[in-house]
Amino acid sequence: MLPAASRAILDPAGTNPDYVELKPDGTFSGTLDVADQECTPETCGVITYAAGGAVNAAHELFTDLTFATDPTGPTDPTTPPVDPGTGVTDARLEWGLKESFRDYIRGPIAHGSWTLDDVTGDGPFAWENLTSGTEELVTFAGGVHFTGHDGLLDLTISQPQVRFANGAAELLLDVRSKGLENPEEYVELDDAVFATLTPGTPTVGNGLNTYTAMPAVLTEQGASGFAGFYPAGTELDPVDRHDRTRRRDPPATGGGRWRRRVRAHADDPGRAEPG
Ligand code: HEM
Repeated sequence: MLPAASRAILDPAGTNPDYVELKPDGTFSGTLDVADQECTPETCGVITYAAGGAVNAAHELFTDLTFATDPTGPTDPTTPPVDPGTGVTDARLEWGLKESFRDYIRGPIAHGSWTLDDVTGDGPFAWENLTSGTEELVTFAGGVHFTGHDGLLDLTISQPQVRFANGAAELLLDVRSKGLENPEEYVELDDAVFATLTPGTPTVGNGLNTYTAMPAVLTEQGASGFAGFYPAGTELDPVDRHDRTRRRDPPATGGGRWRRRVRAHADDPGRAEPG
């Protein structure tokens, strides 16, 4: 379930059956195929809760199903309903920072190199250690440490995040970079918006959303990590983001209305009022 703005990004054609639109008044409608004898009012319901592991008891609702004709088949109410929630469980970010910067680092001017921490590739680099993920925001562990000019250039970029909001996207980074004027001082940025991205249209299929070659432009904050050599507005290497969205376990904590409704069903298979 997604607000219209998020769906426009993840499912621009509006044809992916995995998504339905969440209207501003909180209602939604969708079509589910239920096999014969698989579901009864006692064992199935519509469960809603916040995506991405967020816990918000006020949004955890259980609504009974009603059938046009009486269903037959198993009515054992002890099996909890299947969780319909989803989140980004696998993701990959590919990005090279800037090709000319990599050439400069390894070239005859800087005589430098880079080392990788929880990252693969030799430029572009690939981050795959996802630490949290929703359709709106994916966060990765790992970084790249560039050095050059016998240590006078010392730049680490780490913990990239790709954030989507209102049809736009941003690349956030932690940055640590030695200053040119005073090599004792480092510029340190935490979760800084490093580049603005143009997301374009993703390809969507089998739960995999792929954004290829999103143009990336350096922000003012990002420029502060380059000792004045790149102004804000500098075009960086394009960014690729691939996400796989899968079913998730129900939230382990919270104990909100969702859990209470399931217990009500187990105790009294007859009815439980919708939340
Ligand atoms: C001893 C200190 C430094 C010297 C002598 C130096 C020298 C240079 C020179 C001569 C260039 C031009 C290269 C070319 O046009 O091909 C350059 C480019 C550059 N330098 Fe440095 N630099 C130093 C420190 C730094 C530091 C601390 C940073 C911070 C990250 C930095 C970032 C850059 C960047 C981003 C470029 C542009 C690379 C590109 O062509 O895309 N430099 N530097």
